[in-house]
Amino acid sequence: MPIITFEGHQYDCRQDETILECLTRHGLLIPSSCQNGVCQTCLSKAVKGEPTAESQKGLKDTLVAQGYFLACVCKPQADIEMAVADVSHADVGVTVVEKQMLNESVVRLRLSCDETLDYVAGQFVNVKHPMTELVRSYSLASLPDEDCLELHVKRVPDGRMSGYLHDQAKVGDRFLLTGAAGDCFYTEKDLQQPLLMVAVGTGLAPMYGILRDALQRGHRGDIHIYHASLAVQGLYYIDEMNTLAQQHENVHYIPCVMHGEAPAGGQQGDIQQIVQSSMPSLRGWRVYVCGDPAIVHGLKQTCFMAGAAMPDIYSDPFVFSEK
Ligand SMILES: Cc1cc2nc3c(=O)[nH]c(=O)nc-3n(C[C@H](O)[C@H](O)[C@H](O)COP(=O)(O)OP(=O)(O)OC[C@H]3O[C@@H](n4cnc5c(N)ncnc54)[C@H](O)[C@@H]3O)c2cc1C
Ligand code: FES
Repeated sequence: MPIITFEGHQYDCRQDETILECLTRHGLLIPSSCQNGVCQTCLSKAVKGEPTAESQKGLKDTLVAQGYFLACVCKPQADIEMAVADVSHADVGVTVVEKQMLNESVVRLRLSCDETLDYVAGQFVNVKHPMTELVRSYSLASLPDEDCLELHVKRVPDGRMSGYLHDQAKVGDRFLLTGAAGDCFYTEKDLQQPLLMVAVGTGLAPMYGILRDALQRGHRGDIHIYHASLAVQGLYYIDEMNTLAQQHENVHYIPCVMHGEAPAGGQQGDIQQIVQSSMPSLRGWRVYVCGDPAIVHGLKQTCFMAGAAMPDIYSDPFVFSEK
């Protein structure tokens, strides 16, 4: 049984247990959110011993070289001494300057930052609950040159952070966030490359940023953007997307619903099947998929099978912890 040394104390780690699970079982409060190796809230540093390769996936080379790892996905194979990371992003204070419902279950928050946040459109920030230790990731729908950060938050039943942002946070309120992180964003590697973008639910938040960033940078290849929802009530930004499609002849916007009639200019059915039948060949395409983790996972497979190269598939799965 590997021993974890943390803040001068030793803890036995059960087989198949992550470091985060082990320390939590022993009553320690380690910052965490997604518990899936995505948000980097649990970033830790190995002082002695080797973190697993799995727990360093997605970290910058410079962090890997210094022994940083993600405690929520690190199942140690041998004894390890660790510390909570001292390089995580600094807290940035924000003020809610606008709050508006975009549909029945999605609220848009516009936040003004106390200091400039360095980010690329499509990245996410980690929002800190003002009254508890809770941290949750939200993708940025805004562009770095805009005045405010824009978040689209879906209400999750019994959700602690989404409940707070929907019901309690009001214009003028302040909280902290850290960021930005994530590698699902536009790069100018080929301005002619056709782009397929599939947003599921509030997956439209990063996609709205990525799409506008691509257009601002002069992307000339065709852009097909699908926004998928269970029902028409779950769609939003229909006018904004149609306006972008009218302004840019390379942009094709296709709203999709699983149930009920197809919306104007859109399709009805399972999003994976819609993409499969509408895009039989994706050889040479760049793909972006954001939102519900299970659907994002399925869509990545579909796009790969249709010929998109893995390095050309960018994704932002909104993973969450079951606990
Ligand atoms: C990189 C990243 C980007 C994200 N971007 C966005 C975004 O732009 N907009 C957005 O709305 N969300 C986004 N999320 C999801 C967000 O971080 C939270 O997981 C979500 O808001 C729920 O948090 P909560 O505290 O309200 O719910 P919790 O209190 O954590 O959960 C309450 C219950 O609901 C379950 N649950 C949590 N989330 C879901 C879900 N999505 N579907 C079904 N059950 C769920 C939990 O397992 C738990 O049982 C993102 C997540 C990641 C990792
Ligand atoms: S990466 Fe560990 S909690 Fe999100």
